[in-house]
Amino acid sequence: MDDVDEPRPLPPLTAATAEDPVPVVLDCDPGVDDAVALLLALAAPELDVRAVTTVAGNASLDLITANAARVLDLAGARGDLPLARGAAGPLGRARRERDADVHGPGALGGLDLPPSRRAVAEASAVDVVARAAAERPGELVLVALGPLTTVAALLALHPESADHLREVVLMGGAAFCEGNSSPTTEFNLRCDPDAARRVTESGVPLRVVPLDATQRALVGPETTAPLLASRDARGRAVGQLLQHISTQRRDDDGLAAAAVHDALAVAAVLDPTLCTWVEGGVRVETSGELTRGELVVDTTAGTDGARTDWARTARVAVDADAGGLGRLLVDRLA
Ligand code: BDR
Ligand code: CA
Repeated sequence: MDDVDEPRPLPPLTAATAEDPVPVVLDCDPGVDDAVALLLALAAPELDVRAVTTVAGNASLDLITANAARVLDLAGARGDLPLARGAAGPLGRARRERDADVHGPGALGGLDLPPSRRAVAEASAVDVVARAAAERPGELVLVALGPLTTVAALLALHPESADHLREVVLMGGAAFCEGNSSPTTEFNLRCDPDAARRVTESGVPLRVVPLDATQRALVGPETTAPLLASRDARGRAVGQLLQHISTQRRDDDGLAAAAVHDALAVAAVLDPTLCTWVEGGVRVETSGELTRGELVVDTTAGTDGARTDWARTARVAVDADAGGLGRLLVDRLA
């Protein structure tokens, strides 16, 4: 795709407020950290969650969608909040399986939530997001917490959505650090590099929350303990989800604190000062033998003497306030 000639200016990086909540759609693949992200978003008066959509990633689309419905019930989300199924896998290639240990039993770390009777929309995720964006042109923020298959399909099938969306905030990539799926790639972008590439080329303003930031915002016992002791069922559930992530991290490398990737993306909408941002252009490698799915950042894009002709459409989080996410989770959910 050609580069955009005149990119839209990046929207202001302001904190969300309860007086003027930010309308969001959450596209997710719960997933332990997706579940924490959903519970945080739905507990935040600063966000107006307009719909939840699912995409296969951490597990099959059926399991992911059933998990999303269960988590929405736990969150006390209104019964008519649209929940819609998105892509069951990347177009034209097999779905990449997530190592079953990462998200544990049921892909929710063994969290025992009753099956949901919540209706799943007949409309596809793509149509639900397009409608939500058209209802709030220039305002809706799409928060993408899984592979970018559904987001790319949205931009292909509803090109007007690129103008309607205020921003896509996405958890994905390893910008200047090591990956978690291969040495240079992060799981979400690695799952569907072609989709991710299309999103980065679309001209839609992006707020990218890669491993560089999420691996800095580690959550440990000071967060998990008050959540587990909470009188609120949502808080206790988040405590159990965090416990799953921490136990895994301890088994893997002996650390007592762990990253809650997707929750940081939601937190970055609530309070962008939790992250340190650089601006530039981004692309995703689609053909490298060793690097398919790698996030490539050009901080010079759009400036005099730029190294690429990419438009300056992205903010990338390169660091995060180490204790900020944990404090936010305790404050909102314990
Ligand atoms: C991402 O991969 C998934 O397993 C998580 O839910 C998160 O979105 C982190 O690389
Ligand atoms: Ca996810």
